[in-house]
Amino acid sequence: MSITLKTSEEIAKMRVAGRLAAEVLEMIEPFVIPGVTTGELDQICHDYMVGVQKVIPAPLNYKGFPRSICTSVNHQVCHGIPGPKKLRSGDIINIDITVIKDGYHGDTSQMFLVGEVNLRAKRLVKVCQEAMYLGIAQVRPGGRLGDIGHAIQRHAESHGYSVVQEFCGHGIGKVFHEDPQVLHYGKPGTGLVMEPGMIFTIEPMINLGKRYVKLLPDGWTAVTKDQSLSAQWEHMILVTHTGHEVLTLRTREIQTTGQKHAD
Ligand code: MF3
Ligand code: CO
Ligand code: CO
Repeated sequence: MSITLKTSEEIAKMRVAGRLAAEVLEMIEPFVIPGVTTGELDQICHDYMVGVQKVIPAPLNYKGFPRSICTSVNHQVCHGIPGPKKLRSGDIINIDITVIKDGYHGDTSQMFLVGEVNLRAKRLVKVCQEAMYLGIAQVRPGGRLGDIGHAIQRHAESHGYSVVQEFCGHGIGKVFHEDPQVLHYGKPGTGLVMEPGMIFTIEPMINLGKRYVKLLPDGWTAVTKDQSLSAQWEHMILVTHTGHEVLTLRTREIQTTGQKHAD
């Protein structure tokens, strides 16, 4: 496998795919409330992606994954399969959306707080998002992937949290998961040198307890071994000539980060 540098035509398509994935998260937000099942959230997202956006939900049938989105609740780390379980007040949930539009993938995820969530969980969710942004801030041509991992790990560990090592960010384009692997831990000044035209995700998973995970018998859902809470946020990033562009910003983030829409 090798790393693909995207052409300006491909970048234009990745911007569209990224924005569509972000819009699914914006659409689903008001539905993430106590009493809703993750299966219902999957159905609403599926219908919106297929019926309104005219995109392909990338997870559906991907290596046998049975649903259109991933929903990971509380101690579930990632790749949770939507089902009949109802969300309860106090839960935290990651919803991970990947769309395919015009042959190109858009991949992004965020945490949602369900009802009234305690401070311990809220802090974990916030620090994980900060860690992702600190990682993103390291993205520039000439920088190294290890700079990203180090920034994330340093922030998470400074709060006493741990970084999951079994899953990483990834190159993305026509292919869902391609090189490079973007680790969420590491040493500055090491690893691949970033170049303009690279597109990859940064998607740290941060645990309140120890970093270790195990797979449930469903073959997909990763959970923390010690049952501690876990959070994850994901954006898709383009390396530009001057720095980076986040391809999956939601409208509210555009207002707070000040990054402009491409158009
Ligand atoms: N969207 C996930 C990622 O960020 C991958 C999900 S693969 C699935 O890479 F099969 F579980 F959907
Ligand atoms: Co991803
Ligand atoms: Co994802």
